[in-house]
Amino acid sequence: MPAEIEPVVDPRAVVGTPQPILVDGSLALRPWRVSDVGSLVTAYADPAIRHWHTRTMDADEARAWVASEQAAWQEARRASWAVEQETLFAGRMTLRLNLAGGTAEAAYWTVPTARGRGVAPRALEAAVAWAFRTGFHRVELQHSTRNEPSCRVALSVGFAAEGTRRAAGLHADGWHDMHLHGRVGP
Ligand SMILES: CC(C)(COP(=O)(O)OP(=O)(O)OC[C@H]1O[C@@H](n2cnc3c(N)ncnc32)[C@H](O)[C@@H]1OP(=O)(O)O)[C@@H](O)C(=O)NCCC(=O)NCCS
Repeated sequence: MPAEIEPVVDPRAVVGTPQPILVDGSLALRPWRVSDVGSLVTAYADPAIRHWHTRTMDADEARAWVASEQAAWQEARRASWAVEQETLFAGRMTLRLNLAGGTAEAAYWTVPTARGRGVAPRALEAAVAWAFRTGFHRVELQHSTRNEPSCRVALSVGFAAEGTRRAAGLHADGWHDMHLHGRVGP
């Protein structure tokens, strides 16, 4: 049955995005490359990243992950960036894209040595600005109610708290209630 409403976002607007996205003199969001494999393996050695992102990452898994993020970008399914601070690898920012509805869902982490300096909020703000420029009208994110630093990131970038999804996120230690945050723009 034909849709009555055209997709909100044109995939060509996503795939044609000039890269990298520069936040300011010191922070950049850039596409993933095979040379990030070592940094990814090191990042997932951090218990907090492994716990909240519920996966392992050895070298083979990291190579497959980079390839899948590159493919997802080309197919306009995810906007997925490595975050660099002063040219050093500092983290990950991903938007899962829903072109039909014009919404995106953010996920992020920063490496332990980059934490506490506002890298995640600035990278999230840049991703949101990109999303609104590209035609998305809403960006949302979810975090476990036990992940206070992530809640602070969301609130600091203007993501309103929209409620709690009970027992919605499965982690290694069981089901967690998940906070839903959203920002509607531009
Ligand atoms: C949550 C996370 C992305 C925050 O990134 P960040 O770049 O440190 O962001 P900020 O610098 O704004 O710090 C956010 C909060 O982390 C806390 N924090 C500060 N320094 C910290 C440190 N050295 N280590 C851990 N947390 C710290 C603070 O509570 C801060 O909130 P505040 O600014 O209101 O005091 C990062 O801690 C992380 O990657 N954690 C593990 C993975 C994760 O939780 N991902 C999100 C899943 S939803």
